[in-house]
Amino acid sequence: MEIISTLEEVKARCKELKKQGKSIALVPTMGFLHAGHLSLIEKARQLADIVVVSRFVNPTQFAPNEDLDAYPNDPNHDRSVTEKAGTDILFEPPASAMYHADHATWVEVPELAKGLCGVTRPTHFRGVCTVVTKLFNLIQPDFACFGEKDYQQLTIIRRMVRDLNMPVEIVGCPLVREEDGLAMSSRNAYLTKEERALAPQIRKGLLLLQEKAKQGEHSAENLYSLFAGHIQKTIPSARIDYVRMVDKDSLEPLETLKDSAVVAVAVYLGKARLLDNILISR
Ligand code: PAF
Repeated sequence: MEIISTLEEVKARCKELKKQGKSIALVPTMGFLHAGHLSLIEKARQLADIVVVSRFVNPTQFAPNEDLDAYPNDPNHDRSVTEKAGTDILFEPPASAMYHADHATWVEVPELAKGLCGVTRPTHFRGVCTVVTKLFNLIQPDFACFGEKDYQQLTIIRRMVRDLNMPVEIVGCPLVREEDGLAMSSRNAYLTKEERALAPQIRKGLLLLQEKAKQGEHSAENLYSLFAGHIQKTIPSARIDYVRMVDKDSLEPLETLKDSAVVAVAVYLGKARLLDNILISR
């Protein structure tokens, strides 16, 4: 596995590989890799000749009050697991190289970024879209793999690529869970032992909604109350940031379940803000 940290080098190397007729799949990450990331690398390997993994904690997607400085980091672990997973190039640029001090250009999809996580993190997706565009420009991937755990992120990136005719295919990959159902996330590292034991109740709450929807409960408000009741009962110390039933593509909130919809949630537990989602249908 090649480890590249300069923009010039990654650009030149990827250009050379493309000239040789090789296809490239990119897995963008912020490091502290877990089995969810490895499943993206596995998918990337199936799709293309060359797998590039980027490991970059992107400062522009964190607001000043957020966890940029505390974001978990273990470069040696990341290098070892990416190599074992069959990565060809690991790109790990320093923040100073990715952004000029007077960086002034942003990529935004405001319509899709205003709800769900966008309410508490209004500048987050602008940072994500901008860094992902920069990575696409540097690496020129044919495919890019993103996890469905960050459902809003995946939907926004698909729309950005469609609207701006970016020559890359976005591949959404299934959410990977711990054995007890907790959605894998680098931020699970923030949980204490006690919080970690309770966190799978978020998934259980979503499964409850799914079941109730199948049994005929189609009102969003009632489904939200069911989820809130479950969380209150099983994790009293948690605080729900949001629970929303939205259209799968437009992310527009739905009052009533028609055919199918995504229910997305964010729950604060201790120092962590945990995301999860589920597809529900009648
Ligand atoms: O999902 C993430 O880890 C990040 O938002 C991404 C896509 C790597 C952009 O920094």
